Amino acid sequence: MSHTRIVNKRKEVGLTTSYDSWRSEHCMSHPTTLIRPSERDSSGAAIAVHVLRPDAVEDALAGLNALQSGFARSRAFAGEAGQTALLPDDDGSIAAVLMGVGTEAMDLEREMRVGQLSSSLPTGEYALASLPDDFSARLTTVAWGMGSYRFTRYLKDAREPALLVVGDTVDIDGARAAVTATGLGRDLINTPAGDMGPIALAEAARDLAREHGAEYSEIVGDDLLEQNYPMIHAVGRAAHEAPRLVELEWGDDSHPRLAIIGKGITFDTGGVNMKGASGARLMKKDMGGAAHALALASMIMAAKLPIRLHCLLAIAENAVSANAYRPGDILPSRTGLTVEIDNTDAEGRLVLGDALCKATESNPALMIDFATLTGAARVALGPQLPPFFTNRDALHEPVSEHCMRELDPVWPMPLWQPYRAMLRSPIADMKNAGGRFAGAVTAALFLERFVADTPWMHFDVYGWNPAARAGHPKGADVYAVRGLFSWLAAGGLNTPMES
Ligand code: BES
Ligand code: MN
Ligand code: ZN
Repeated sequence: MSHTRIVNKRKEVGLTTSYDSWRSEHCMSHPTTLIRPSERDSSGAAIAVHVLRPDAVEDALAGLNALQSGFARSRAFAGEAGQTALLPDDDGSIAAVLMGVGTEAMDLEREMRVGQLSSSLPTGEYALASLPDDFSARLTTVAWGMGSYRFTRYLKDAREPALLVVGDTVDIDGARAAVTATGLGRDLINTPAGDMGPIALAEAARDLAREHGAEYSEIVGDDLLEQNYPMIHAVGRAAHEAPRLVELEWGDDSHPRLAIIGKGITFDTGGVNMKGASGARLMKKDMGGAAHALALASMIMAAKLPIRLHCLLAIAENAVSANAYRPGDILPSRTGLTVEIDNTDAEGRLVLGDALCKATESNPALMIDFATLTGAARVALGPQLPPFFTNRDALHEPVSEHCMRELDPVWPMPLWQPYRAMLRSPIADMKNAGGRFAGAVTAALFLERFVADTPWMHFDVYGWNPAARAGHPKGADVYAVRGLFSWLAAGGLNTPMES
């Protein structure tokens, strides 16, 4: 059988569809707003920030001069969640900042609330002077950094950000690594598909590999067929830039092996089963899984965790053209299973299937995949709470706990085996979409067919904040990565994972 050859048509046709020259002058950067005392600009004291619960307000006011406590009282500052007061010095400059965090028993934002200060305070150098007893200075510091994120690639932000001077009781390198990883993921997701196609996404992975001394490799275009990744090829073959499987390898062979896999659909038109206007509007974020995978990989490599890392990105644009795959087509796959295409918009599970299968071949202790896989996950849990699925029940609790503690919550959902029936095809091993029910579960069950019995977790992330929250600006966002890092750093790979 012969295949239409995929090459980079940009060269063939001589048309430019992406503004490369413009891009190189406006590259992304991750200015960190967390600084050490030795990195300060001014020599005076940093502006004190007091983070207060209501019952601590009286004591805090008693420690201020009459002008400042009078100022706070006249503005009815009571330490309620979200309340802030900027207290004046005699000369009118800012002497201190009060911020309330309330007492709500169900408050899940906690330290993250401080993330709202970094984007709202005037330019300057600040320091955390007091925190509620049960607050972690580390998490508060991370929140500051996460809250100061802005996507400045196309719209310059003239304002210098507010800086937090971090004392030496806090691990500033760890906090910066979390902020940098989150910023990297957000930048990749926010960048529109016209500037973040398969080539640019692979370049971003190569840059990260270089930064940390990881080995980089990629399999591009028709080589995917030769090397047996038929589903990645089929999904991406109609696009202007060829599909590819990108791999990063890092760490010592003597350490337990972890595979991190990401869905890298740089734009999801839906294919022949094309999305409508509202469905397509945000689909630049459909490479969010790859962005998450790189974010977690960057934290692991920055911290030099004792892990042998294998990161796989399944990169393709789900486009429409004369050579696009079609509903009803039957695809071979790397595992050997045949897949009948019920819907070309269920493309993420196809590219992931081949990548997951490849990851199993080196027998990792665990595989973690991230994917903006289903709208159904959002219907079930909304944009803030990614569901996760695992074929090892022992992972539910420790992973949920670490994520909650990092204010990076996730929620377990079941691999409900009876629903495998929804993926039955009369003429192939399976089809790629179930019916109207349990869409996030059937998508996860589809992936499960490609992991053999390797321990595995799957995160169905949204990658986007529809509205700004403390520490989470509107737009692209990264979930579960800080929580998973915390679990891995605490030796999570040593959890007994017999099936
Ligand atoms: N990338 C989408 C899933 C998605 C849509 C995530 C909206 C977040 C927001 C995925 O490729 C998709 O289109 N899934 C379909 C699957 C269906 C055809 C079985 C979906 O969820 O509708
Ligand atoms: Mn789709
Ligand atoms: Zn998709």
